[in-house]
Amino acid sequence: MDPSTGPSRDTWGSKVAFILAAAGSAIGLGNIWGFPTVAGQNGGAAFLLIYLGAVALIGAPVMLAELIVGRRTQRNPVGAFRALAPGKAWVIVGGLGVLTGIVILSFYSVIAGWTLAYIYKTLIGTFREGTDTAAIFSDLAGGAVPAISWHLLFMALTIWVVLGGVRDGIERWTKVLMPLLFVLLAALAVRAVTLSGADAGLTFYLKPDFSKVTGTVILSAIGQAFFSLSLGMGAMITYGSYVSKRDDLVSSAGWVTFADTTIAILAGLIIFPTLFHAGLEPGSGGPGMVFVVLTSLLSSIPPAPYGGVIFGTGFFMLLGIAALTSSVSLLEVVTSWAVDEHGMSRRKAAICFGGVAFVLGIPSALANGAVSWLTSLPGIGMDFLSFTFMLFGQYSLVIGALLISLFVGWVWGVRAAGEEVRENDGRFPLGRTWSFLIRFVAPSAIVAILVKMVADLI
Ligand code: PHE
Repeated sequence: MDPSTGPSRDTWGSKVAFILAAAGSAIGLGNIWGFPTVAGQNGGAAFLLIYLGAVALIGAPVMLAELIVGRRTQRNPVGAFRALAPGKAWVIVGGLGVLTGIVILSFYSVIAGWTLAYIYKTLIGTFREGTDTAAIFSDLAGGAVPAISWHLLFMALTIWVVLGGVRDGIERWTKVLMPLLFVLLAALAVRAVTLSGADAGLTFYLKPDFSKVTGTVILSAIGQAFFSLSLGMGAMITYGSYVSKRDDLVSSAGWVTFADTTIAILAGLIIFPTLFHAGLEPGSGGPGMVFVVLTSLLSSIPPAPYGGVIFGTGFFMLLGIAALTSSVSLLEVVTSWAVDEHGMSRRKAAICFGGVAFVLGIPSALANGAVSWLTSLPGIGMDFLSFTFMLFGQYSLVIGALLISLFVGWVWGVRAAGEEVRENDGRFPLGRTWSFLIRFVAPSAIVAILVKMVADLI
């Protein structure tokens, strides 16, 4: 079927609305929970530099490629590949994206559930100077009942927003809340860098030591870039499918990438000085590290205890909302697939697949102390949540992004893609640079690093 004659489809209210929604998808736990954790495990400053390179040379071009495919076909990822390459195996890339979306949503909701719990905990004044924040975290994440209950609550919120449609709810919220999150993060960064002992944290974060760079570090940086920018599984194809032909895709992709990266960098400026101030190891801590570190920073804000309560509650509310605008995009991919391809009602699809993701998330909820073999998987040594994150939040996205860039660069072709970009005003700024990056740089960098990883394993 010619995609342009397909059924009429919702579009975003405006270009700004689309940028905010896409930035809402990109900005989330990946920036504030994921980035400092992965950067800490991979050597700090050297990782940061490689991350920035990966964002500029690979992430941004793939983002544009996904948006182009989405707007061209006005379909979910499976339908999009089917429309552009009918009868070909490329549709599997879309299918892998949908599957990856459900699995990421499963553990994402567990971590986001912790955020909801922390809104409550900070509000009732749990954290004061000298509170053992690590013990509070392990009571929450290590208890089967609280971990699963907060996960359930967060998943219910996600389903609720997706049911209402993205346009009204999400558009309106993100407009106010994303800037607010930015301001609060900037304020916290100022507080963190002025702590005693912050210097060592800044050195770790900003002064690269290239002896620490290995294949794993580079792969983690690329994987983190894709996760943080919501790439490699079709979220941006889906969001791109609601973009009107009047809007400019290139600057939209640029803004989203810029906003997402700025927030991640700020999160590092908060976490590393605070870690060193508290005398903790940057690579330690696992999935809970950020929760433990941030609460100790927040509770130190004067005047005690109100400063901690106000900033703490505000911070976790904003983080919870940032996570919600991301989880919504994950569920939206699956929902749009079920609606477009299988004729399900939006309501049924959102509830059914949200439910599936909830069940899939239960082992992740139990993997932080509640069940010991899930907390340290036999033969693997990682906890189930971190392991699932590695497989689906990193590897699957890297492979998905590789296939998307090969498809757009070589199969469907940069010429056709360029035509789609020019739909609005006939221009394609940076078109040549983009073609070069998407055809040569992105795929070869990803393949090289995958080969190196496999070689390291053997
Ligand atoms: N980018 C989101 C974050 O950083 C997570 C996400 C990944 C959302 C993939 C959609 C798709 O929190």
